[in-house]
Formats: sequence, C-alpha cells, structure tokens
Amino acid sequence: MSEEDQAPPIPDHIRDLAAYQPGRLIEDVIEEMGLATAVKLASNENSLGPSPLAVERIGRALWGLARYGDADSRRLREAISRKVGHPAAGVMAGNGSSEFILVMAHALLGPGLTAVMSRPSFTLYAKNAQAAGARAIEVPLGPGHGHDLEGILRQAGPEARLVFIDNPLNPTGAFLGQGEIERLLRGLPRTAILVLDEAYADFARAPRPDYGRLLADGRVVILRTFSKVMGLAGLRAAYALAAPPLAQALNKVRQPFNLNNLAQVGAMAALEDEGHVRRTLEMTWSALDRLGRELPALGLEVFPTQANFVMAGLPDGLLADDFAKKMLTEGVIVRSLSSFGLPGHVRINAGLEPELEALLGAMAKVLAA
Ligand SMILES: Cc1ncc(COP(=O)(O)O)c(C=O)c1O
Repeated sequence: MSEEDQAPPIPDHIRDLAAYQPGRLIEDVIEEMGLATAVKLASNENSLGPSPLAVERIGRALWGLARYGDADSRRLREAISRKVGHPAAGVMAGNGSSEFILVMAHALLGPGLTAVMSRPSFTLYAKNAQAAGARAIEVPLGPGHGHDLEGILRQAGPEARLVFIDNPLNPTGAFLGQGEIERLLRGLPRTAILVLDEAYADFARAPRPDYGRLLADGRVVILRTFSKVMGLAGLRAAYALAAPPLAQALNKVRQPFNLNNLAQVGAMAALEDEGHVRRTLEMTWSALDRLGRELPALGLEVFPTQANFVMAGLPDGLLADDFAKKMLTEGVIVRSLSSFGLPGHVRINAGLEPELEALLGAMAKVLAA
C-alpha cells in the first residue's frame, strides 16, 4: 500500500487546523530546566488558589463518585439563576467556557457560513469555527488595541452566525462599555448571535455592561467561567446566559454529564464564597498597579487593562519567544504573544507579591544580558 492509501480520511479543513497552544505546566518547566521551583504568570490563573469552600465541599463529594451525577447540572443552574437574576431555563452549565464555544460552533455553523472575531483575540473562536467547516473572519484590532466595532460590523454579512467578543479582550485587556456593545448588537444582521465572553469581566474596574438589557434582545449569549476569579481552572466549570429558546437549542448539542459531579459541587460552593472573590480582586488590582509602575521602568510598554493580566511591548528589537524562553531559564513563565500575531509582546497575569518579586528580578536580569 502506498503512503497515500494509508493516510486516514481527514478532511482538509481539519488537517489544516493549528493545534491550541496552552501555557506551559509548572511541573514540566521545573523538570525540563532542572529548577527547584518556578513561577507561572502565563495563563491568567488565580495565584490565591481555589475557593477554600469549593475545596472543602469537593472533598466531601468524593465518596459519591460511584454514581452518575445530575446530567443537567440543575442545582448549579438554579443557584446561578438566583445569583444573576436570569431564568434557570436560560442558564447553561459548561465544562469550561471552551465547551460553549465548541457547542455553539457545532450547533450554529457549517460550510458557507461565517463567524467573526478580532485578531488577536481568544484563539478558540477561530479554531472552533474552522473545525465546524465555517469561515473564521478575523478583524484586526482598532485604535487602542481594542475591538474594531466598525470593522466587525462590515465583516458580519448575511452568512454570519456567530460574532465573538471577549470583553475584556484577551490578550490586550481592552474593554467595551454598554453603549458600544448595544451599538454592535443593533448593527448586526438578525441572523447573527453575539457571544460576549466575560471570562475576565469580574476584574474590570470600569462599569460592567448591563447584561439583563443585552439578554432581552434574544440574540446574545454571555459566557462566564469559574476558571479565573474563582480559581477553579483545573476543575472545568463555566456558565452561559441566553434567552431560554436559544439556551434550550444549544443544550441539545452538548454532552450529557458535561459537568462532572465534583465540578457541580465545587462551582456551587464557589458561587457562595464571596470572600474569596473579594480577596482575589484585591490581590489582582494591587499586582496590576505594581506591574503598571515597574514594567515601564524596565523599558516595557504597558497597555491599559480591565482584566487580570497586562499586555506589555518589549523594548525595540526583542522577540517575545526568545524573551519568554530566557525567562524560563530563570524559573518564570510568561506568555509570548507570537501565536496571537504579536511577536514583540508578552502577556503577564497578576500574582502574589513573591511571584512579582521573582518576575521583576528575572526580567531585570534577562533584559540586562
Ligand atoms: C477570553 C477567554 N475566554 C475563555 C477562556 C477559557 O476559559 P475556560 O477555562 O472557562 O474554558 C479563556 C482562557 O484563557 C479566555 O482567555
């Protein structure tokens, strides 16, 4: 048999997909570099750790693992419904917000249709649209490194079914207010759904959009995750809000039991744990203020942010991939933005004081070399 005969029958649009590039695992970096310890400020995680209440309740739930759990995450969805004031029939529970992105692409896209998003923005939007056989239209950022609303509206034609807006925007931290989002929604064709990904909105110090008014339009899906402010990235839990008919349609496409028993219990506890959220916000804002003062002193350009991270431009001529590699040898993981199309920029998330000390010390050393 020739090599061609043996090739598995993979459609071109799947073969051509680039794989998702996750941040490096701390344990891998420690092993690879022969270090005693490492600091990770590369995946916008919560350095305070998970909600302690979530950890305690998950511990107690472990003995229930022999049973299938609630395939519909009903108790969790009802708790979210009470917390945000949106009917439970319009609340979806997901295995991370990345599951919603996949489910929406699977349910709403296909050949001949398009999804519109900014470039750069969260890379899973384009990838899932392409995997569904649709065209991903990536619109360059506008002034201030934010979403270019006019550009997005120009590209969202009659074939557009999904428009993805991460607000705040990953990786720049730019933020849209109520007026801008309403203007975008008014300008989109009625056939397009606006996905407002609020993974980082809890960290915004600017006023947050009134999601109740946006949801009333019927064409909006709001994504929120337990991975960031609640510190549960490894648990995989998120929720989405939409008008009930849209939520019910999307619900038919997801896997049953998409949230495992522990994720349902942990997410419910985290919703209650307002103290952990408050402490996380205090830690995050104080770290961002420090990075905003100290990174420019090292020669980096820092962009305004409403998220739990900053984007920083490296001094002239430095490549982010090289810089991030050198930082690894110092035991500090930062995110090069070259895979986002920004070869001279890095993204650094907020962390605890000792982590910031390690970061700034390593940066001073690498930049001086
Ligand atoms: C904008 C944005 N949305 C969603 C996610 C994924 O979140 P989750 O852990 O809920 O899948 C991320 C993760 O980094 C993100 O940056």
